[in-house]
Amino acid sequence: MLIIVGSRRDGNSLKLAKMVKSELEKERLSVEMIVPGNQKIHICTGCMDCDKNGVCDFTDDMKNNIEKIKKENTLMFITPTRWNLLSGDIKIFMDRLNPLYSSQGLKGKKMIAVSIGAKPKDVYSTEASTFSLRNFAEASGMDCALSKNFDECRDANDVLLKSSETEEFLKEVKIIAQSN
Ligand SMILES: Cc1cc2nc3c(=O)[nH]c(=O)nc-3n(C[C@H](O)[C@H](O)[C@H](O)COP(=O)(O)O)c2cc1C
Repeated sequence: MLIIVGSRRDGNSLKLAKMVKSELEKERLSVEMIVPGNQKIHICTGCMDCDKNGVCDFTDDMKNNIEKIKKENTLMFITPTRWNLLSGDIKIFMDRLNPLYSSQGLKGKKMIAVSIGAKPKDVYSTEASTFSLRNFAEASGMDCALSKNFDECRDANDVLLKSSETEEFLKEVKIIAQSN
């Protein structure tokens, strides 16, 4: 499994990712984690060259990311909710996956969509960001195996305080990872 973390701070998204990685590794499941915001990734110019040949004109960290994704069955996207949307880092990352999409390279992979926000559940803020992740999965031919929102996470450690919710989430993630 590859976990793509959409926040640069040592906050809820990164802490959840680290927790998932360490718990899955206890079961001898292999997990890798990337934080695109800490990498060198150019913003997509929309030139559409990749639609013709499946290759991006930019040479940056996306080359290695795409090679990693090719080998993975499951991608977990963890995004902080920002203005009821995905983080900009995740959006840039998605745009730069177009070369892989145009060569059918995302088709059939599983997605686990996770969003984390500060607002309460009843305002549907995190729901809007997981909705975007699920739309991306659908548009790229991926199968969204699990979609999870963590609400009321403002301080950097809040998600880990929701122990029953994270345990339940972890159980579902393990089932997906073990089915690969
Ligand atoms: C620019 C910005 C916009 C935000 N917008 C929202 C929002 O629309 N809804 C929400 O629930 N939380 C919002 N938040 C709060 C973050 O989603 C929340 O603090 C979350 O825990 C951040 O995840 P992180 O700790 O991984 O960075 C926003 C935070 C920032 C910095």
